[in-house]
Amino acid sequence: MHIFEKIGPLEDYLDSCREDNRSITLVPTMGGLHEGHLQLIEKAKECSDMVVVSVFVNPTQFAENEDFKAYPKTLSEDKRLLEAIKVEAMFAPLDNEVYPDGNSQDYDVGEMGKILCGISRPIHFNGVAQVVSRLFDIVKPDYAVFGEKDYQQLLIIKSLVERQGIKTTIVSVPTLRESDGTAMSTRNNYLSPEDRANAPLFYQQLVAIKAAIQNGTDISSATGQALETLSGVFDVEYIEVLNANNLTQITTSSNEIIIISAVRLGETRLIDNIVFRRSDV
Ligand code: PAJ
Repeated sequence: MHIFEKIGPLEDYLDSCREDNRSITLVPTMGGLHEGHLQLIEKAKECSDMVVVSVFVNPTQFAENEDFKAYPKTLSEDKRLLEAIKVEAMFAPLDNEVYPDGNSQDYDVGEMGKILCGISRPIHFNGVAQVVSRLFDIVKPDYAVFGEKDYQQLLIIKSLVERQGIKTTIVSVPTLRESDGTAMSTRNNYLSPEDRANAPLFYQQLVAIKAAIQNGTDISSATGQALETLSGVFDVEYIEVLNANNLTQITTSSNEIIIISAVRLGETRLIDNIVFRRSDV
């Protein structure tokens, strides 16, 4: 595997790949790699001739009071995993490589960045848009793969690509879960054994909302019931049932529906969602 810490040599390498007519897929990550990330890479391999995985804990998407410093940095383990699955190139840049002119650039992430996670994390999606846009600029990928676990992030990136006319196709991959249903996440490592044992209730309640809606319960009663159950264990930040295409309120014409939520378990913030079609209701 080729490992790049600097942009120049990465760009030279990618240029030579393009000269050989090889298509490129980028999988952006913050490291702390788990099976969910590897699933994205499997998808990336189906999309193109070669895969670049970026590993960069982007400071601009964390607020002062958030877990930037504590975020797991497992670069040698990440390298080992990527080598084992035969990824062609890993881009693990230093901070000043990504933001040589400082971090101040502002990205308008639109209304979608101001709701749900954007309420408690007002600068978060701005930072995500900044780093993704920068990575696209450097790698110029034909495809980029993102997880549906971070659904709001996925939609914001799709809209960024559309608005900026970026010629990268965004591909998404369903959430990979542990056997108890908990969505795989680097942040699950923060949970104490007791909190980890309680975590499956989160996804179970999203499943319960879906089942209740499918059985004809109205959305607000279904959500209210789950909120009550969840509140016994978690601090619920939000739990909503929305149009999955644009995260607006559901209307009679909304076909794709998302149940989306963020909760806190001790110091750890967890997010999850389920997407389903109205015809499944
Ligand atoms: P990170 O949390 O490392 O996630 C990298 C990618 O893996 C994201 O697209 C995320 O949605 C996906 N992912 C994480 N857990 C997953 C799971 N259980 N199943 C499927 N996909 C999963 O998201 C970020 O990093 C950053 O915000 C980033 C986009 C890299 C910008 O810094």
